[in-house]
Amino acid sequence: MSTKQQLLIYLKEGKDTWVSGEHLAQKMAISRTAIWKNVRNLKEDGYVIESSPKKGYLLRQSSNLLLVNEIQEGLNTSVFGKRDIAYFKETDSTNLRAKFLAGDGAPEGTVVVAESQTQGRGRRGRSWFSPSGGGIYTSIILRPSISPNEAPKLTLMASVAVAETLLSMTSLDINIKWPNDILVKGRKIAGILTEISMEMDRIDYIVIGVGINVNTPHKSLPPDIRDIATSVFMETGKPFPRIALLHAYLEWLEIYYETFKTKGFEPVMNRWKSLAHIIGQRVSVDMIDRVCVGEVLDIDKDGFLILKEQGGGLERIISGDVTFI
Ligand code: BTN
Repeated sequence: MSTKQQLLIYLKEGKDTWVSGEHLAQKMAISRTAIWKNVRNLKEDGYVIESSPKKGYLLRQSSNLLLVNEIQEGLNTSVFGKRDIAYFKETDSTNLRAKFLAGDGAPEGTVVVAESQTQGRGRRGRSWFSPSGGGIYTSIILRPSISPNEAPKLTLMASVAVAETLLSMTSLDINIKWPNDILVKGRKIAGILTEISMEMDRIDYIVIGVGINVNTPHKSLPPDIRDIATSVFMETGKPFPRIALLHAYLEWLEIYYETFKTKGFEPVMNRWKSLAHIIGQRVSVDMIDRVCVGEVLDIDKDGFLILKEQGGGLERIISGDVTFI
């Protein structure tokens, strides 16, 4: 553990009380100047620490950044985020970073988190608006023993985990739009981008990337998404601690991944259906090469959308953009 992390633990132990520089220096067997320098580093990381020549140091407020030690503290998972977390103040895309790490052999449960992304990626080549401090941008590496054609199941699983996160932490009315848009009153609050790497007939790794709009105010949304996106802040009028949401997401994801591995996809799919309200609706599905219009009969056991077209024919669709009509 670094000196900075050790100092933070002592300051946190102090719980709203002053801790003298001399006491800290003695406990950590370093000079008071070294203490002061590490306090300065902690302040640069966003911790609010008061200093007084007489009383020493007082930790007023933890950092709002999604720092590795803050993520790991109080994280109630067995594997996800327990061992390896790659943290970036800014990166191109957490999915890209996760793919590099996975290619280098990073284990299942490795988490990548960024405060902001310069090339945040969405589905179908779109970009994902990723301003600093506004949201959660995270990707996780999974190495399930499943065949590539089962990969869409894990995307649906992730959308259930994100929906459960927002339902358990806020009082928002959360809906899933097939396959994996998370909506509040028809506006998108979170999205999921799954990318897979496969070898022959088995998956090498899956990267599940999740973006949740948390503290983004309406005025900072770019014009093209101003009418279709929302955030926890926009819906509740209050900023929300991102760390608590990230904890909940990793915990829910691990719960559903365990369910998927031990009990199969059915229980996950059943929960997905109860959150999606899509069956029986008339929709238009925009796929890469064509548009299908009809009534949704079901989501099948593999996560495909079963659409009854106007002419009566059935379509089995793996992915597309759904519009309710
Ligand atoms: C969508 O189009 O709905 C999917 C959006 C996924 C965005 C997240 S943010 C974290 C991860 N890194 C990326 O570049 N994209 C995903």
